Amino acid sequence: MQITTTLTSSPTDDARLAEILENPGFGTHFTDHMFTVEWTPTDGWHDARITPYGPLTLDPAAAVLHYAQEIFEGMKAYRHDDGSVWMFRPEANAERMVRSCDRLALPELPADDFVQAVAALVEVDQRFVPSNSGAGEKSLYLRPFMFASEKFLGVRPAEHVTFMVIASPAGAYFKGGAKPVSLWLTEEYTRAGRGGMGAAKTGGNYASSLVAQREAYAHGCDQVVFLDGQEGKYVEELGGMNMYFVFDDGSIVTPETGTILEGITRSSIIELAGKMGHHVTERKFAIDEWRDGVASGRITEVFACGTAAVVTPVGALRTKDGDVPAPASTDLTMRIREALVDVQFGRADDTFGWMKRV
Ligand code: PLP
Ligand code: COI
Repeated sequence: MQITTTLTSSPTDDARLAEILENPGFGTHFTDHMFTVEWTPTDGWHDARITPYGPLTLDPAAAVLHYAQEIFEGMKAYRHDDGSVWMFRPEANAERMVRSCDRLALPELPADDFVQAVAALVEVDQRFVPSNSGAGEKSLYLRPFMFASEKFLGVRPAEHVTFMVIASPAGAYFKGGAKPVSLWLTEEYTRAGRGGMGAAKTGGNYASSLVAQREAYAHGCDQVVFLDGQEGKYVEELGGMNMYFVFDDGSIVTPETGTILEGITRSSIIELAGKMGHHVTERKFAIDEWRDGVASGRITEVFACGTAAVVTPVGALRTKDGDVPAPASTDLTMRIREALVDVQFGRADDTFGWMKRV
């Protein structure tokens, strides 16, 4: 893919950048540039460009604004101690985006083009990749996304599609850092159904989760747990994270795929925990098993994981039938977190070949 680059004439000055990188928060500061490429049936993907970051001009009839034909990805670039910048498993995000493209009837963006686009933006804006002296685990969060930009109100797959990448320096997703998060169990709302979009990373799934997330906040909780749509019995995932359950014999369970977003952090943990000697099973996991397991002490840890949240211990689960207390420990959770971030920050050998240098 041929990419043209037009640099901004007013880059963020060094003092302001240092201030942002000192305390980036999550998702509020953006880099100086963005990547864009367009698709039409006749020209395919064309006009790939990096331009100064700024607002879009979008026709009010653009299909995405009406029918939500949109998908996105979330990934990160990390600065190692020697100053080099690395992305974590970008091919896995590229492949997941292809699956999302298929589900949302969007044109496939070849995985190589996806990785090239993301790498090109990181390279142009690499001064925004935080360094990690001290304990802070800061990175550059990357948000590739694709949407129906055709001006047309009929309901059919769009014939003008735009793919973009923006980037945002990021610190911890949760204010408490790696402190246990509290969860609210929604029994009224589900996130995905059979034949639905649960496995796709599409804005509609997040839109439908917001009312339940609001409910979680109203109950004093950080995140919401969704159960399966058919029986309302099995744990699926959180609004923006996958889940793991640790048993007292060291074995680990994570809900099976199908209607959940197949997290890249989730699949990395399956490999890492396996290497650490733990037996990991992907299977249906009933909400009652959580309740009973914590009560009996068989479940010793619960944690959530995702690009934004990394690996975060889960504390208490609040439900309309009463609270399930926080599990006894966070020990393995924190060891898994450390094993993962050590690879991401180049502090441990990348034995799985996950890191790609920019
Ligand atoms: N589940 C949902 C609904 C998510 O939004 C995310 C975050 O991207 C995840 C799981 C975790 O996926 P990943 O580890 O690829 O970030
Ligand atoms: C991510 O982790 O990349 C996500 O998209 C989830 C969201 C909570 C920011």
